[in-house]
Amino acid sequence: MTRIEDVARLAGVSTATVSRALRGLPTVSETTRRRVLLAAEQLDYSASPSASRLAGGKTGTVAVIVPRITPWFVGAVVEAAEEVLHRAGYELLLYNIGGREHARHRLLHRANLPKRVDAVMLVATPLGTDDLATIASLALPGVTVSSGTVVPGWPSIRIDDLAAGRTATEHLLGLGHRRIACISGDPADEYAHPAHLERRRGYQEALHGRGMLPEPRLSVENRADAEGGRLATEELLARGDRPTAIFASCDEMAMGAVNALRTAGVRVPQEISVVGIDNHDLAGAFGLSTVAQPAAEQGRLAAGTLLGPLAGRSRTDGEPTPVILPTWLVPRDSTGPPGKTEGQPVRARRESILNTPDTMSESHLPATASTGTEPDVARRPDPAGPWWRHAVIYQIYPRSFADSDGDGIGDLPGIIARLDHLVELGVDAVWLSPFYPSPQADAGYDVADYRDVDPIFGRLADADQLLAAARSRGLRVLVDLVPNHTSSAHPWFGAALAAGPDGQERARYVFRDGRGPDGAEPPNDWQSVFGGPAWTRVTEPDGRPGQWYLHLFDTGQPDLNWDRPEVRAEFVDILRYWLDRGVDGFRVDVAHGLVKQADLADWRPQDEPVSGPGTEGPRPPMWDQDGVHEIYRDWRRVLDSYPGERILVAEAWVQPAERLAAYVRPDEMHQAFNFEYLEASWSAPAQYAVITRSLAASAAVGAPTTWVLSNHDVLRHATRLALPVGTPRPRGIGVDDPQPDPVLGLRRARAATLLMLSLPGSAYLYQGEELGLPEHTTLPDESRQDPTWARSGHAERGRDGCRVPIPWEADAPSYGFGPGDASWLPQPTLWAEYALDRQRGVPGSTYEVYRTGLRLRRELRLGTGSVYWLESPDGVLYFRNGALRVLTNFGADPVELPAGAELVHASGPLDPDGRVPTDVTVWLRPGDEPGEA
Ligand code: NOJ
Repeated sequence: MTRIEDVARLAGVSTATVSRALRGLPTVSETTRRRVLLAAEQLDYSASPSASRLAGGKTGTVAVIVPRITPWFVGAVVEAAEEVLHRAGYELLLYNIGGREHARHRLLHRANLPKRVDAVMLVATPLGTDDLATIASLALPGVTVSSGTVVPGWPSIRIDDLAAGRTATEHLLGLGHRRIACISGDPADEYAHPAHLERRRGYQEALHGRGMLPEPRLSVENRADAEGGRLATEELLARGDRPTAIFASCDEMAMGAVNALRTAGVRVPQEISVVGIDNHDLAGAFGLSTVAQPAAEQGRLAAGTLLGPLAGRSRTDGEPTPVILPTWLVPRDSTGPPGKTEGQPVRARRESILNTPDTMSESHLPATASTGTEPDVARRPDPAGPWWRHAVIYQIYPRSFADSDGDGIGDLPGIIARLDHLVELGVDAVWLSPFYPSPQADAGYDVADYRDVDPIFGRLADADQLLAAARSRGLRVLVDLVPNHTSSAHPWFGAALAAGPDGQERARYVFRDGRGPDGAEPPNDWQSVFGGPAWTRVTEPDGRPGQWYLHLFDTGQPDLNWDRPEVRAEFVDILRYWLDRGVDGFRVDVAHGLVKQADLADWRPQDEPVSGPGTEGPRPPMWDQDGVHEIYRDWRRVLDSYPGERILVAEAWVQPAERLAAYVRPDEMHQAFNFEYLEASWSAPAQYAVITRSLAASAAVGAPTTWVLSNHDVLRHATRLALPVGTPRPRGIGVDDPQPDPVLGLRRARAATLLMLSLPGSAYLYQGEELGLPEHTTLPDESRQDPTWARSGHAERGRDGCRVPIPWEADAPSYGFGPGDASWLPQPTLWAEYALDRQRGVPGSTYEVYRTGLRLRRELRLGTGSVYWLESPDGVLYFRNGALRVLTNFGADPVELPAGAELVHASGPLDPDGRVPTDVTVWLRPGDEPGEA
């Protein structure tokens, strides 16, 4: 007899899909359904319940009671539950009681449950008292999912609807809206999901939280579907008292609202923003901002809770505790960025956000506001693993991002004012380079006080406000931790100098007597990463030349001695300090440098001090010593003691990938930057090798791979990739060096970025790369500030060229970086053409290529996918990640698109014959290959 598995195999789909297709469920695409029907016909398969009994010889039936409202949510729950139950040998029977056409029917008459089912799952369906009594009399195991009905003895699974309503409304409040209407499901409607009432309460609570009262004129109830949303919105508009934003208690109502607004000629979001709840499967295509709920997760959990009782295992005594799953904000176009709002120029709007009393009050939260609790924003739960396994993290270099006070140096209030850019771009988190008090000998990587904010960047209250502002937008925040060295202005170093050669305070750093008869030679031959010796001699308190201290970087950055317990204790305390303030984690500077080989032995060759060991040869005595791992295990324990997923990210220039992977073993850090990827040549074999190797190395320790192309220490990739293939990465470019071709560089950079964003794992972006910014390669030498320039005796230009303040508005002074002309590094005149306002909304601009790429990455779940290489000609990389095919052409000639493939996204235009030109990445949906079930 033909089994369902045979049909599934022939059709190239899962057994659950076969079952769904044969039963005509709407969650199966037409193409898949046709394929399944064809296979079933060929194999003469009949879908009768007896024929479709599944594995293990066990059979049974679970009745699933569903309404017709929120069909997306119900479909997603049922589909996921079905996967689990099918595997265990159970068939699902759907009972639809929600359609208005069934309004007069009582569920249990139709379903005749006692004779036919072994368990019941109630999905998004409130039951009347009659039905409840019948259910109770059946004494069947059951579970409720978001149903608003409590059935004694049954577990219940739901989201926190109140919090979802609050999150949606706070999103609007955070964008500066104050006249926010609420359209919600009418409780008098028999089929309105009770969740709507809770969500509306969440809306009210959010307003109360800002000292505002919901206005009755701005509240309308109607049916909990698109039609209801449309009617409610028309009523709102007819009242004449227009809101600037609408909160809808479900996405269907929200979509109805958007349609009504568009029909009335009201622009969304310029005139009215709209947010819903659910993350309906059309919400993405609709550009609808929403608060998402984990629907499939609810289905899987519900099915899981039934398996025990179905297998005859008795349930535990007492009422089961309800399972409440979190929700998270997904901002899209329908709430837009504040700068888009009609009649409010960006700067005025920015100030209004900064100065509203409600926002300011966030900065006055006690420092420990989030201690011991998960930060109160909706956070992205991930059925496939925690957020950091697939997040896109955007690096903000504070001094060059946005300047609020016109001193030419970016600051924290400037960042807050521009946060909506990051929301619009679609990243998950930001990493902030150091903003702590510092003499700025190395642009803040010389920290004098780890628990405060340097006045050039703002105040500690601004850091708190930044954390709150990011949190309210669903963005996570990582801060930079600099543990290898302090600033020479750190009180510990002052104490060490004052203590003299025998003082205990010296032991916190690496002080040694010099070599040679009068100690005038450095203690060993180590070189500073920035050039020159890694040792500086001090003048002792008595005025005589004395000991030497180690600084692997600038003289102003003395290395700490990590053998000392007080150094270890201090950094644990610093971690706790920022965790208590609510940060989501730390990027750990020079993570491979903290522990030095005990004998401080000389090291030759000395020419590559920044990198760790190559694939061969001895390990340098200053890098990647085994002792560092113990430190990170301690830190991991600290982070794990906090709620939420707080993370550690290693900046460790360590090769090969296997050696780097040791930093991300399960009890150490969460991620490590993949610099081998950043340094890989722009060629198909090199990229293939580095991708494969990186994936394998991180998989071996169960960590996510990371991908990075640019940061504040390297030539921007829009310039670097224009260098002849195979050129070692230069340390800066100056006006008298050969100038790389910016057009070629940008073309490759865009292709590289789309390739990177299609890879599973976590990706890092560096501010300005979304604008396609090149390196400033003609920066006047006299304005250079990177210590590398001076310390290398002007042999290396250093890193200033990638740190130039970024352009926001083409025609504004300092291109919108700050209110005036001031900019700590001069901006090139060509910055105007890269400005955000020249690119936003312009199809094919680098910014829009990034934005679409990021959106699709999230929608297609590329971050949690896998790479399957597909056959391709020389010079071309071609692979599959989930339902997406990715093709990059590194070769000299254009290549044809694979037969029948549909273009989803591209880093640049196809050629006139529809082929993929050189240095272009395309994202494709397969045409004639079987899809994923
Ligand atoms: C790595 C940082 O990224 C870089 O900017 C800094 O100069 C060194 N570490 C020293 O802290």
